[in-house]
Amino acid sequence: MSRPFQVRVWPLQKWLDWRQLLGPGEWATAELAGGYLKAEASLERAAAADLAARLRGVGIGGSLIRIEISPALHRKDLRKASTEEARRYRQGSTGFSQRSARLDEEGRMSLTPEALALTLGERARGLRVIDACAGAGGNAIGFARAGCAVVAIEINQSRLAMAKHNAKLYGVADRIEFVAGDARAIVAEQDADLVFIDPPWGERYNKERVTLSDLPPCQELLKRAAHLPKRWIKVPPSFDPSTLPGCRVEAIFGVAQGDERRVKFLLLED
Ligand SMILES: C[S@@+](CC[C@H](N)C(=O)[O-])C[C@H]1O[C@@H](n2cnc3c(N)ncnc32)[C@H](O)[C@@H]1O
Repeated sequence: MSRPFQVRVWPLQKWLDWRQLLGPGEWATAELAGGYLKAEASLERAAAADLAARLRGVGIGGSLIRIEISPALHRKDLRKASTEEARRYRQGSTGFSQRSARLDEEGRMSLTPEALALTLGERARGLRVIDACAGAGGNAIGFARAGCAVVAIEINQSRLAMAKHNAKLYGVADRIEFVAGDARAIVAEQDADLVFIDPPWGERYNKERVTLSDLPPCQELLKRAAHLPKRWIKVPPSFDPSTLPGCRVEAIFGVAQGDERRVKFLLLED
């Protein structure tokens, strides 16, 4: 049996299901300043290398996750783990299972994986939902499949047409009202139980810290939707929730093989 490696990971937010992020191990935690946690465990070589490869460059909740391993791992262990991690990443959660779904480049990049869209749909079961940034329909379809009545707003007309086509494929087009236009102008006139905002994340979404002002048109949409009882916002894992004071935050992990320990996005409830 190989000699164990001492692995320390920090800063971990208390709202983060860090056990799911870190995986198996006898993790002990210590409190850090600012309400963060540091976790420490003794891991075998392969598990330590796997974790290092998976957490490299990952920012969660506005802070870059740091990992310290002693003794230091060999480069070849890290290389092997990184290759394996890249392979798992390619296999991770994908978009629509319907092969004839229509998507343009941005629609594909920003599509919420089907299983996660269904998970969110289940949480909203029976509610009247406005999907303010509908894209090619990933979430609108997920909500509709869970029995929600949905208003899907999209500023890009051709992407809205894709969302309509895709909703037909899933047999839920009759549960979705499709509206072309700027949600900032439309949402204030709408009545619903929940507004769901999945704004464009921009090209720098995987930088260390993303704030509310990095995610136009979020700020204005939140103001215009202030009359609605619930507001959910889907933001990149690196989003700093302190830029939206008072929100409840939850890290949503992938569900596909190889993705179960990866935070796919944060769900904020304003
Ligand atoms: C991240 S994508 C949404 C992806 C979608 N949730 C899915 O899973 O398919 C964001 C979408 O918001 C649209 N958008 C951006 N600003 C908007 C606005 N002011 N009103 C309505 N749609 C907007 C973009 O055109 C883009 O298609």
